Parts: sequence; structure tokens; C-alpha cells
Amino acid sequence: MPVHVAVRWHALFFDEERSGCIVAQTILPWIPYFGHVLGYIKHGDDYFSDLCDKTSLPTFNIGMASVNISLITPKMFKHLPKVHHLGLAPLVLEMFRRSLGLGKNSCDLLSEKDDHAKFFCKEVSRLFREELGPAQQVRKHALKIDEYICSHIAKGNDITAMDLEDWVFKCLVGSLGKALWGGEKGPFADDNFIKQLRIFLLNIQNLNNPVTLMIDKKVLHARQYVRQGFESFSFEEFRAAQGSGDQEDNLLDNVRQLCLQHGASTEGWTDYQMLLITGLAPNIMAASTWLMHHLLADPALQTSVREQLYRFVEASPDSIDLSQVSDACPLLAATWHEVLRFHGSFTLGRYVHQDTTLAGKYLLKKGTYALTPIRPHHRDARTWGPNPDEFHPERFLGSDGKINEARRRHLRVYGTFGLLCPGRFLAVHMAMALAVRMLLAFEYYALDGPHVIPQEAKDSVAGLATPAWDVKVGVRKPPINYDHVKFIFKAGLDTRIQE
Ligand code: HEM
Repeated sequence: MPVHVAVRWHALFFDEERSGCIVAQTILPWIPYFGHVLGYIKHGDDYFSDLCDKTSLPTFNIGMASVNISLITPKMFKHLPKVHHLGLAPLVLEMFRRSLGLGKNSCDLLSEKDDHAKFFCKEVSRLFREELGPAQQVRKHALKIDEYICSHIAKGNDITAMDLEDWVFKCLVGSLGKALWGGEKGPFADDNFIKQLRIFLLNIQNLNNPVTLMIDKKVLHARQYVRQGFESFSFEEFRAAQGSGDQEDNLLDNVRQLCLQHGASTEGWTDYQMLLITGLAPNIMAASTWLMHHLLADPALQTSVREQLYRFVEASPDSIDLSQVSDACPLLAATWHEVLRFHGSFTLGRYVHQDTTLAGKYLLKKGTYALTPIRPHHRDARTWGPNPDEFHPERFLGSDGKINEARRRHLRVYGTFGLLCPGRFLAVHMAMALAVRMLLAFEYYALDGPHVIPQEAKDSVAGLATPAWDVKVGVRKPPINYDHVKFIFKAGLDTRIQE
């Protein structure tokens, strides 16, 4: 078992003191140079988690071919927000340079190699926070996305079966894409664009193959189709078509202007759109699909969730407040949080720009990557209670049946380095909107015996693992029709918005 052997070997390399800081131990792989790379290819992020689980070291180093990594275990999470000289963009670049086929201009900006590039990355990050953080922005995006979700459901009103993950992808990513990229006039209005986007995103690992001949032609074609879709969409034409009186502030348009101001070429802006969709779509799509899988696999859970939901809808039959779903349907919200905990097994990280220290003593060396696998934390019984390897939404409920906020705050899926995902408020409302709409629109049943939840794919690269295969499920219309129910969103500036 390579991981065991690696842990045994590290005893050869003691913590070493250098100019007042500690150089953490190095864990060597069984096969020199490539051993950790092979472990990662085989086991995905679980490989890093296993290494953390098998050592009591707070942090340690590994080499993956020429890339040096400091793996940081949950014991040190509380120190991460205070570490200086870290950058997210260079890590994103390392992960996606080849698979997205990024051009030189984008690579230069993402590398944060000079002050200008660093400033650009900070500005984009600030813009996201401004555009996705405030309650009125979340309301605007969430209600728009709900409109598109409804029209997607209405189009398939008479379906009798669905491929679950495929359906969630088309509905949710299609709706998010339309909300951000020009609605029915943008690339996401083309069904084939969404189909190709799904092929491209689910096969990103394949696109990382340095030997182009070994990349599936279908996947290369899908990437090309998506690039062309973004390239040929013009925000100028879209804005002009909207008319001057009806100009809406558009998140993507603002990001684009920022990119152009900082010298991004047209090709660079297309790269940036590819990066954005690669970062935004897979997490929310995977989490929403897992949510439906768990509801299908546990009929008692689904019945209880439906009971709370029907009570909520019937209490205000014409419109329900999307910002109140968590309070009115705590079991649905608890299932969402449990999905994030249970399937939140990925690794977060940063590039180290300059020698710096973790907890004021462990050296993080310039040019390395600081990585934090979050599974060891998400499966720790001291934080989550008994049986952390099992799926139990009730662990997020207090004795009063409401969400246990203190426990929810232990989730680390939105970040460990201090800055959290700016889309986290929108994410939960999108997921709740989709789940509520799906539960109201259809009843679901397994087509062959009890519903079996698929395994997690080992080759997911950006965030939550996607299901390793898709499952066809039967659907039928429920006895009561709730198609007329509207969503409103009352949470405002003075109320805390849930995440
Ligand atoms: C369950 C769903 C989601 C999860 C688990 C998730 C998780 C994350 C994580 C871990 C990061 C990196 C944070 C860091 O290391 O600093 C991130 C970044 C980001 N997320 Fe999310 N995310 C989700 C949904 C969304 C959605 C729906 C949006 C927007 C529509 C979004 C927008 C972003 C953006 C723009 C960034 C980059 C932030 C920056 O450059 O500073 N995310 N997300």
C-alpha cells in the first residue's frame, strides 16, 4: 500500500530548524519522483487526505515530479487566514493551463508574476465579492435563475424519465449561464452549447494529457465548441439590443471590462470565460445532483422533506420566500449541508509567492503550493458526531428541529484560507430553488430496484466530486399541481442572508 510505505519513509527526514523556522518533514513516495503523482492519478484528492490521515504531523512536504507541495492538516486550518504571500490564481493556472488551452496573455495575468498581474487578480476577486455578496444582488440573480429553472421544467412537463445528473446539469448550469451570459441571446440559449459544455467539464482530466493524440476527439471538439460559443457572444451587441433605458448592470460585463482594462486580449477574455464556467458550474451541479440522489435513496427522508415543503407552500400558496426555505424546510437545508460535508472531500490551496510561515513557525517555501485536503476535517467525529462516514442530515439539526448553525459553520467547502467563495450565498439559494422546483414538479422512482447512489468520480478537478456515472430515474406528475407557485426573496440588507 503506497501510502503506508510513504509514511514509514518520512522518518528519515526530521523537522529541521532554519533561520528560526521549522522546515517540515518530507514524505517520500515508494516510487521516486513520480510516486505521489501516480497516487494522485489513481485516488484523486483522497490520496492527499489519506496521507494526512496517516500522520500526526501538522504539516509536511511532498514532491509531485517537479512540483513541491506543503500539505496542511486540519490542525493548522485556524492559522491559514493569517499566512501572507499566498495567491489563488497561480494554482488555478497550474490546474487548468493545459486542459483549458489557455493562451500566453492569460497565463501571464494568472501567474501573478508582477505587481500588475497581482493587482488584476485582486481586483477581479473584489468585483466578485461586490457582485455576488450583497443581499439585493443575490436576490436579483436567484430570482432570475429560478425563472430559467421554471422554463426548463415546463419544457419537459410530460417526461416520464430523466438521466439525473444530465438533467440537473442542463437545468441548473443552463439557468446560471443564461442569467450571467445574456439570457436567451447568449451562448447558453443553444442546447448544443450546454451539451458540449457538459462533455468538456466532465472530461477535464482527459484534456490534461500532454499527448494530444491520447485525448478523446469528442472532448477536444466539445472544448472548441464552448470556446467558440463564448468568443462569438458580444456583450456590446447584447447591451445595445437591451436599449439604453433598460440597461442592467451585468456581472460578466463588468468582469470583462476589468479584463480588457488590464490588457487582456479578445482571446484572453475567452480564456477567462472558460475559467469562470469551469470554476462556477461543477460544484453547484455536483452538490445538487448528490442532493437528489440522497433523497431518492432514502424514501423516508424524501417523505419528511416533502411534508415540510408542502406545509411551507400551503401556508402561502401563491408565492414562497426563497430566503426562508432553510427555516421552513430545515430537513431539506440539513440534507444540503450534509451533502457538502459528505461529498466535500476535495483539496483547497494557494501558490506561495515568497518564503513565509504557517503559525509563525513552519516554513512555506517560495514557489511551492500550500494544499489543504478538507476530507480529514469533514470526516472527524469530534466535529460531526458519531458515524462521520455515513450520510445523516439530522446531524445538522438542533434539538428544536432547526438548523444547528454552530455545526454548519464548521463546513469548509467554501474555503480555508480566509477568503471564502463569493458565490456561497447564491449557491445555497440556487440549490434550494432547484430542489424545491424539482420536488414540486415531479415524483421520482427508481427504475430497477432500490435507488443506488453512484460512487464519486476520482478525476474531478475543481471542487466537489461529480457522480462517477449517471442514473436514469422514473418521474411522474404529483397529484397536486404547484406550477403556479412564485418565488419571492425578502431577505434584505438588514437581515442576515443564509449560506
Ligand atoms: C456548492 C457550491 C460551491 C462551492 C462548494 C464553491 C466553493 C468555492 C471555493 C472553495 C472557492 C475558492 C475559495 C478560496 O480558496 O479562496 C470558490 C471560489 C469562487 N467561487 Fe465558488 N463555490 C460554489 C458555488 C459558486 C457559485 C454558484 C458561484 C457564482 C455564481 C461561485 C463563484 C465563485 C467565484 C467567482 C470564486 C473565485 C473567487 C476569487 O477569485 O476570489 N461559486 N468557490
